[in-house]
Formats: sequence, structure tokens, C-alpha cells
Amino acid sequence: MSLFDPSARDAAELWEGVHGATPGNSWSGEPNAALVGAVRDLDPERGPGRALDLGCGEGGDAVWLARWGWRVTGADVSATALARARALAEEAGVAGRVHLERHDLGTSLPAGEFDLVCTSFLHSPAFLDRPAVLRRAAAAVAPGGHLVVVGHVRAPGWRRRQQQEEGFPEVELPTPEQVREQLALPAPPWRVVRSELLERPVPGPRGEAGTAVDGVLVLHRAPVRAQRPAADRHPS
Ligand SMILES: C[S@@+](CC[C@H](N)C(=O)[O-])C[C@H]1O[C@@H](n2cnc3c(N)ncnc32)[C@H](O)[C@@H]1O
Repeated sequence: MSLFDPSARDAAELWEGVHGATPGNSWSGEPNAALVGAVRDLDPERGPGRALDLGCGEGGDAVWLARWGWRVTGADVSATALARARALAEEAGVAGRVHLERHDLGTSLPAGEFDLVCTSFLHSPAFLDRPAVLRRAAAAVAPGGHLVVVGHVRAPGWRRRQQQEEGFPEVELPTPEQVREQLALPAPPWRVVRSELLERPVPGPRGEAGTAVDGVLVLHRAPVRAQRPAADRHPS
């Protein structure tokens, strides 16, 4: 049976139902490998700064970032997921660097500018204009900062068959290139650092072999250069 209740009235009810369906954590608490790879490759000179994790769920990525020194704001629509993220941050000893806010990202985002805005697997079977959320996410990236979008591109075969049987609604799973087109960000100041597909094995519940394809898009927003005084620019 699907975890998604088709009668849910909004994103909060839908995702509260998903997270609440399990008495403990639904996910491992570990960060997503694709996010880890993308963030480790960022410009080491800048060092960790302010990060925003959209759809942070139970906090695996947010807590990993905080362990690496980032000051992280995590946002999710589910109060249950946020409570689990808070517990994970406390357990990891980084609660002081993890701030959590409840938002339906379809209507609001945490305020402020961030050196890193990231989101992993922010897909929803309903109620989410993801391209609009990602455009607002890009607007929250400070000059010199990065936007990292990790998403599903193709589920393993066993899961696609299962979803068909359950009448699971179609969810758009764009490639990183399609995400870039949806964002339509001007270059400059935006530059594509990375746009790639990653495969990972995801065996089914009965041991079926399966491979998932994820997409990783990393964009960099150029820093604002200080204007040199006119005399410097036109030496006599
Ligand atoms: C597949 S989970 C991914 C969670 C986490 N990023 C991770 O990779 O472990 C998607 C998350 O997005 C959240 N979400 C979905 N729609 C949302 C919305 N409209 N506003 C805020 N969060 C939303 C869900 O509650 C869920 O925690």
C-alpha cells in the first residue's frame, strides 16, 4: 500500500501522513551521497558558511552539513520530520548550528541569504510547483554562493511497477539539464559547475535487483566585484 494518502488536503497533511506512518525514523539519518559529493567539491577557500536545506526531512543532510561547520537552516512542511531532525542534531552534538523552520515551500521559504542552498529529493505527488520553489531557492543564494539540487530522475524498475499497481500519481522527475532550463537563470552571474546523472543500486523489498538514477545540478553565483575607482580604470 502507498504511504501517500490520496485524500490529503494539502502538502502538510500528505507529508505528515508519510512521516507519521512510521513510529521511528523513516530514513537512515545518513546524508545523501550525491549531496556529500557535491558539497565536498565546492570551493574550499570559502569554507563553510550559511546553508539552507529545503525539504530537509529528518535532517540527514542538514546534520552532516552542520558537522562540517555550516550554520544550517532546515525547512520542511512536516512537524514530525522536523522533530526527528532536531533529535538527530542533538544526538550529533550540532544542535547549536541547526535551526529548523516549518514551511510549506509552495508558499514560503526561510528568510535571508545563504552561501549554500541545497535540496535533496524534494518531489511531491501533489501540491508542489517545484520549478517555482527552486527559482525562489536560487534567489536566496548570496553572491559567491552555490545552489545544489539533487533529485530522482528514474526510480528502480521494481518501484515503478509497484507504483503503477498502486495507481501512484505521476510525479515529474526532471534531469539536471531540465532543472537548469526550468530555472532559466542568467549567465552571468550564474555558472553551471556540475550537471550529471548518478546511478545507485536500490534492491527491492524481496531482494529484487534495481538501479535508481539521481540527478545532481550545482550552480555557482558569481561574487559581486567591488568597483575600482574611476582613476584606477583609466590610468593617464
Ligand atoms: C523524499 S523526502 C526527502 C527528505 C530529505 N531531503 C532527504 O533527502 O532525506 C521529501 C521531503 O520534502 C518535504 N516536502 C514535500 N513537499 C513539501 C512542501 N510543499 N513544503 C515543505 N516540505 C515539503 C517532505 O516532508 C519530505 O520530508
